[in-house]
Amino acid sequence: MQRLTNRQIVLGITGGIAAYKSAELTRLLKGAGADVQVVMTPAATEFITPLTMQALSGNPVHLHLLDPEAEAGMGHIELAKWADLVLIAPASANFMARLNAGQGSDLLSTLCLATEAPIVLAPAMNQAMWRDQQTQTNATSLERKGIQLLGPGTGEQACGDTGPGRMLEPIEIAQQTAALFDRGLLAGKRVFITAGPTREALDPVRYISNHSSGKMGYALAEAAVDAGAKVTLISGPVNLQTPPRCERIMVESAEQMLAASLQHIDECDIFIASAAVADYRPVAVAEHKLKKGNEEIMELRLVKNPDIVATVAAQSNKPFTVGFAAETRDVVSYAQDKLTRKNLDLIIANDVSRSDIGFNSDDNAVTVISHHNVQQLPLCSKRQLAAKLIEIIASNQES
Ligand code: C5P
Repeated sequence: MQRLTNRQIVLGITGGIAAYKSAELTRLLKGAGADVQVVMTPAATEFITPLTMQALSGNPVHLHLLDPEAEAGMGHIELAKWADLVLIAPASANFMARLNAGQGSDLLSTLCLATEAPIVLAPAMNQAMWRDQQTQTNATSLERKGIQLLGPGTGEQACGDTGPGRMLEPIEIAQQTAALFDRGLLAGKRVFITAGPTREALDPVRYISNHSSGKMGYALAEAAVDAGAKVTLISGPVNLQTPPRCERIMVESAEQMLAASLQHIDECDIFIASAAVADYRPVAVAEHKLKKGNEEIMELRLVKNPDIVATVAAQSNKPFTVGFAAETRDVVSYAQDKLTRKNLDLIIANDVSRSDIGFNSDDNAVTVISHHNVQQLPLCSKRQLAAKLIEIIASNQES
């Protein structure tokens, strides 16, 4: 719990019987050295008094959005900026729904909209309300937006029911909150990852593409998030869900992928190009569906696509840039050539002539090549490999 020392935590309390546990949670957070500002919704004050929370947190409790006196002290924007973390315990079904809808209907929800700090929820509600389809949809959607859920636990409930929906015990919430401040290998870093194939339109219904599944790029995004990075995944069309706590920009063509990659490139610390970008695109996209003619042979004119990773690596303030090289022979020497030619810092080469690894498979084995080192990583799952690659990328970027 030492990791909580001097952390600035906004503790949001919403209306639910578990609010009585927020008193103990405040005591634990304070005891571990955190500075706690309590924000209560009107319903929360029906369950526990602001006076109790003020006495335990040692700070005035924030209750109203439009209170001139309160806003003159620490208003919603100040609180939003002050927070290293916004922890909402208990988080009611109603609050989760409002947060998911992006509503700013009271001080706590407005503060959540305004903050750039991580938001963590400890849901607490009756088991039927937790199981409700809409609550489940809200929970999944909030997680996709990067909001972390602690619990809920399962067991006997205040209303007499038994099932999932109990707020975790204050000590569990405090411990899991402390763990969130663990500084991962990529803490505070911005990582952009391109993934999947691109589609190059021929006409409104046809395109040129490839079989890339995007699995490697998505696994890298998850591993980078786990290592504490803020990740933007720039993805071609794939059949995969957005990894939790990750921003995803969907694109189709190489040109769109390049534009999305360059949009905020000055904020990017590490750029990982795992996408299988089409090398060429049709010279022109037909406005209407191309008709079958009498000719036996149809010729397509193609023009070279921009090289996304090389364009990124040519920027004056270039991020640490990592490319992939899928080769069928002379894997290391072709990859080394690409490393130099594209001005990369690291290249991850794999032998796509092997049928057990690569494009659509769940496993991969690669060689990681920098300007002064060649390292083989044996066959393992793309998830395990991604974690290892993120470790290598983090240590190379540091040096
Ligand atoms: O030149 P080649 O396609 O083999 O290079 C592969 C590496 O370059 C990968 O990292 C891939 O994502 C990237 N690339 C790119 N833009 C292209 C072609 C490849 O970013 N147009």
